[in-house]
Amino acid sequence: MMNRQLSAACVAVAIAWGGVVASAWSVPAQAPQAPAAKSTEADGRAILGKLCVDCHAADAVMRQRRTLTGWEEIIDTMVAQGAGGTDDELQKVIQYLVVTVGKVNVNKDNARNLQAVLEIPAPLADALIKGRPYAAMADLARVPGLDIKAITEKSERVVF
Ligand code: HEC
Repeated sequence: MMNRQLSAACVAVAIAWGGVVASAWSVPAQAPQAPAAKSTEADGRAILGKLCVDCHAADAVMRQRRTLTGWEEIIDTMVAQGAGGTDDELQKVIQYLVVTVGKVNVNKDNARNLQAVLEIPAPLADALIKGRPYAAMADLARVPGLDIKAITEKSERVVF
């Protein structure tokens, strides 16, 4: 009886997760990404669907935006709770979460977080830190070399 209830719950979770995947795919990509970045993202999503849905729905994972540091702390907590996965798999899950439900404070967070969440190289993260403070998206246009169009497409990840 218990087992049957459990497997019904697993099926429900799988269906819920399938819905998330389907809706993610049906959204037209706004910013074309390099194939490598795309496959890392697909890998991360698939691994999340494997490792992160035994104890709660995938929805529960995606409910809140976090910094890279925040996601790393969550993964540590989940591993302590009993979540499986190799370091490489967990790293891919973190990368996926950071670009899907990441956030970064452009006035406060460190270069590592800026790089990962905004998907920019180290020199640009440093230039961004040098140009602080910023009050709005438009202010980021003064960072030399920063692609303001690409960053604006990621504006839901940006906090001031
Ligand atoms: C062994 C069980 C287990 C696994 C596997 C697991 N979690 Fe959790 N997770 C929990 C528990 C317990 C909580 C806290 C109660 C809840 O929200 O269900 C939680 C909560 C969370 C939260 C909400 C935390 C908060 O403070 O708001 C996130 C985000 C999360 N998990 C992400 C993940 C990710 C990502 C994975 C896959 C790497 C994962 N979990 C795998 C047990 C697990």
